[in-house]
Amino acid sequence: MRIEDPKIVAMLSELGVQLKPGTSLAELTSLGIGGTTDLLRIEKHDAIPNLLNLLDSHGVPHKFLGGGSNLLVGDGELPWVVLQLVSPEPDIGLKGNFAQVDAAADLGRTVTFCAKNDLGGMEGLIGVPGTIGGALRMNAGAYGMQIGSYVRQVKLYRAAARKLETLEGDQISFEYRHTSFAPDDMMLAVKLELPSKPYREILKGIRICNEKRRASQPLGQKSAGCIFKNPPGASAGRMIDDLGLKGLNVGDARVSDRHANFFVNAGKASAKDMLALIADVRERVEKSFGVILEYEVVVWNA
Ligand code: EPU
Repeated sequence: MRIEDPKIVAMLSELGVQLKPGTSLAELTSLGIGGTTDLLRIEKHDAIPNLLNLLDSHGVPHKFLGGGSNLLVGDGELPWVVLQLVSPEPDIGLKGNFAQVDAAADLGRTVTFCAKNDLGGMEGLIGVPGTIGGALRMNAGAYGMQIGSYVRQVKLYRAAARKLETLEGDQISFEYRHTSFAPDDMMLAVKLELPSKPYREILKGIRICNEKRRASQPLGQKSAGCIFKNPPGASAGRMIDDLGLKGLNVGDARVSDRHANFFVNAGKASAKDMLALIADVRERVEKSFGVILEYEVVVWNA
């Protein structure tokens, strides 16, 4: 979708919002799949309520993009614009055991920055691509930990109330790959409380997690991490593997040979290919195990 009305373009610039016309979302997502649309880069959180009023009053549909690492975007010209936060400098502030982190901050960089300041707890998240905001929204976790355990406060834009709000940790529920945020809430910043740990000890934990991840996941390939959530008490990856589906493909969309819950873009996969592969695998799992797998990947279909 293109914003061409000069009045809107001028108001965006007044709000300090950068307009990047015709941006390819394939370049902004770890799967490397997705069509084109206008990208609006937001420099100041305070501009968000006015920006959304402006878009709504001119009938411009929009979506919020984090780091694009758990996202499958449709092909072609997309019927909505995309909003993304620009990461401020600095994006992390530390005070005692608290880290105040901007939602646009890179997750891995946050883990290592805190580690270097003797703050641990998030070792398992090393190697998980994406932003703090994205990790927060889906309660990202790995190797026995989840980010929600450390969240004490969240600043967000509440689309339903059309305003910026601050929630305390106990007002938010964090479950396995799920949170109580509304789908159109926009994460802006988070305060984490992290346990003190010597850097050297944290580094040991980070190395162990890195090794485990390297041994079991297709890290060098374009993917969105795990496609499906694990059903209670089971592993979606193991189920897909047990059905002999590693290497199954639709065009360049392929079930990873390394971890069967990772579907990779092995070349020029389209969203159509990837969605067909996902549907096929899901159907086979249902037929054989009687389990309907739930998507972990977020789909923005055109
Ligand atoms: N397994 C197979 N074949 C496969 C994949 C896995 O047999 O192709 C077996 C493994 O050998 C193991 C079991 O299934 O016995 C579980 O596998 P793994 O330890 O890789 O964990 P997972 O349940 O597949 C989850 C998360 C990952 C996270 C790892 C490590 C989900 C959907 N996946 O994977 O998170 O990194 O544990 O904690 O919860 C993600 O969410 O995107 C993600 C990658």
